[in-house]
Amino acid sequence: MLKIEGLNTYYGDSHILRGVEVELPAARSVGLLGRNGMGKTTLIRSLMGYVRPASGRVLLDGQDVTAWPPEKMARRGIGYVPEGRGIFPNLSVRENLVMSARAGIDGRREWTFDRVMQTFPRLTERLSHGGQQLSGGEQQMLSIGRALMTNPRLMILDEATEGLAPLIVAEIWRVIAGIRSSGIATLIVDRDWRKVLANTDHAVVMEKGRIVRHGASQELVAEPAVLEDLLGV
Ligand SMILES: Nc1ncnc2c1ncn2[C@@H]1O[C@H](COP(=O)(O)OP(=O)(O)OP(=O)(O)O)[C@@H](O)[C@H]1O
Ligand SMILES: [Mg+2]
Repeated sequence: MLKIEGLNTYYGDSHILRGVEVELPAARSVGLLGRNGMGKTTLIRSLMGYVRPASGRVLLDGQDVTAWPPEKMARRGIGYVPEGRGIFPNLSVRENLVMSARAGIDGRREWTFDRVMQTFPRLTERLSHGGQQLSGGEQQMLSIGRALMTNPRLMILDEATEGLAPLIVAEIWRVIAGIRSSGIATLIVDRDWRKVLANTDHAVVMEKGRIVRHGASQELVAEPAVLEDLLGV
């Protein structure tokens, strides 16, 4: 479904992504691992069209979509939960969700307002609250809920559990597992590599803007020493 070929991205003179290749088949889950500053978020921002890569291609269903604007990528079925959440702070929880509602590219509307409420019961008690009045965990749930309201076929989750209390973290992983089992492909970035590997089919490890290791998540989990070395944990 999504293929990234030879992507090079710069911030000014800094060469951040160096020939990144990643393939994301439909309905599969891919984990993206790497220490701080290795280029995970830059890769996601490059494929979503927030940053224009200097060279390389992003292919969606075989079509070259490199540097398409983010809204257009969203319309083609890519849901994005950005690092640091990205909800509208001045809109209510209900407004944040309703304004994101859209049928999937195949016309399906499996993720409705009611289903998002069932998934995040906590948000039902906060519907009229503004985004900025929510706790960090509730904001993250709202951010995931908004992406689900677009009925995506691929969900990209960048550090969805960052800075949250253990109980909330567990709830977010439960939801991520549910998203995966509902047939939506996922691209997951998270510091907890064990959780990432447990919730993905395949994983890639980035170091200094390059993919330095990739493989089946089940195989990688059996190499903790290699991962600890690459991830510095
Ligand atoms: N807007 C920017 N302008 C200039 N440099 C940037 C910008 N954003 C990120 N960088 C640099 O690009 C490199 C890759 O950053 P990126 O955010 O992609 O890493 P990351 O793997 O997502 O890290 P983290 O785990 O901390 O989220 C880092 O050296 C970072 O300092
Ligand atoms: Mg990041």
